[in-house]
Amino acid sequence: MDKIRIRGGRPLSGIIAISGAKNAALPLMAAGLLTDDRLVLTNVPHLHDIGTMRRLLAQHGITVEPVDAEGRVLALGGAITNTMAPYEIVTEMRASILVLGPLMARCREAQVSLPGGCGIGSRPIDLHLKGLEQMGAVFRLDGGYVHGSAPQGLKGATIVLPFASVGATENILLAATLADGRTVLSNAAQEPEITDLCDCLVAMGARISGIGTGTITVDGVPRLHGATHAIVPDRIETGTYACAAAITGGDVFLRHGRIDHLGAVVRSLGECGVEVTPGEGGFSVRRVNRLIGIDVITEPYPGFPTDMQAQFMAMLSVAEGASMITETIFDNRFMHVEELKRLGARINYHGASAIVRGVPRLSGAQVMATDLRASFCLVLAGLAAGGETTIGGLHHLDRGYETPAEKLAACGADIERVSG
Ligand code: UD1
Repeated sequence: MDKIRIRGGRPLSGIIAISGAKNAALPLMAAGLLTDDRLVLTNVPHLHDIGTMRRLLAQHGITVEPVDAEGRVLALGGAITNTMAPYEIVTEMRASILVLGPLMARCREAQVSLPGGCGIGSRPIDLHLKGLEQMGAVFRLDGGYVHGSAPQGLKGATIVLPFASVGATENILLAATLADGRTVLSNAAQEPEITDLCDCLVAMGARISGIGTGTITVDGVPRLHGATHAIVPDRIETGTYACAAAITGGDVFLRHGRIDHLGAVVRSLGECGVEVTPGEGGFSVRRVNRLIGIDVITEPYPGFPTDMQAQFMAMLSVAEGASMITETIFDNRFMHVEELKRLGARINYHGASAIVRGVPRLSGAQVMATDLRASFCLVLAGLAAGGETTIGGLHHLDRGYETPAEKLAACGADIERVSG
């Protein structure tokens, strides 16, 4: 099993190029099920999850082929030959559920495995199912699979989400593009990845208004066609490297980083005493004085993202004074606390809130990644810690971060990936 080895204490300095967003790429790939035509996606990140979605689509009959030598441009195309999403793939990647809406819209049936347990909390799909039910789908559970059917096809509906779920918004949107009539989705999630999905669907011939707001209206069309779409830069990867610059007292330019997608994160960095300066094609992040402790509450976009919570906890563990972090999106997203404590962090948590009492310095140790974002929180802590830190459980990191060791080493970090 590979590990990352870090000798901490070096300020980062240089340029980090941000990749395309994983959480945009996955629903965009699912949109490939909505047409037999060629859908070309550019700025595709090199990540394990992209390979998983590729395998899932392949077994539905959709080929996903690289168009360029580097594999940054993928062409999707072909007819759906199978409407079942198997347990083996869905359990590996929960975003597999995003094939449900497109399959129901195009084939009037789908069999998708229930994803099962998850490391960061209970993650039901009831909102996905209820939304599609309002559009005329009928679901039954059998053998661990959700069996959906809509013999009359999907019909437009007025749907109010009780919680602005990202995945449910995406699934309903994907389905609504080909439904009969108008769908109005209220309390829709407003994450930039959803705007990116809508932009691509419009390029494919979908009729959508209210893009980027909490009320999205979709007028169904009989068919969609091919398009070419560039995937939005990854705001979570951007925010993560901003934390890397901050925790090491460095100065890094985040090329392609979209500051406009990181309002709450940039505000919080500012409160911590980190300088964020917009530039040409990105922005720079620099810290001179000691970090200052702050309070953070995770919320749906445009609030502070849950996917940045663990990285901020690492940063705040060396800030001056106490910080309180409250997690409102997932019910078990403090798994990284015990690992951070192994590096000397002083953190207590109860329920949804954690108190972080900043220490002057962390010290290196062996730790284990517990989930995707938690894995990078340990990398950040390792970058700031004295001595050597080794991080195991890298399959989490590989799901969502493209060549992190290389990107950090290019800015002066003493970091390497070692096997065994
Ligand atoms: C997406 C992101 C993930 C991010 C999350 C919240 C992708 C591939 N993943 O996940 O990185 O952390 O948004 O920003 O884009 N819920 C229900 N019922 C449902 C659906 C969700 O109760 O049917 C609850 C979940 O249990 C969770 C909360 O809603 O507590 C947020 O989930 P959701 O916004 O759906 O996140 P995902 O789409 O799974």
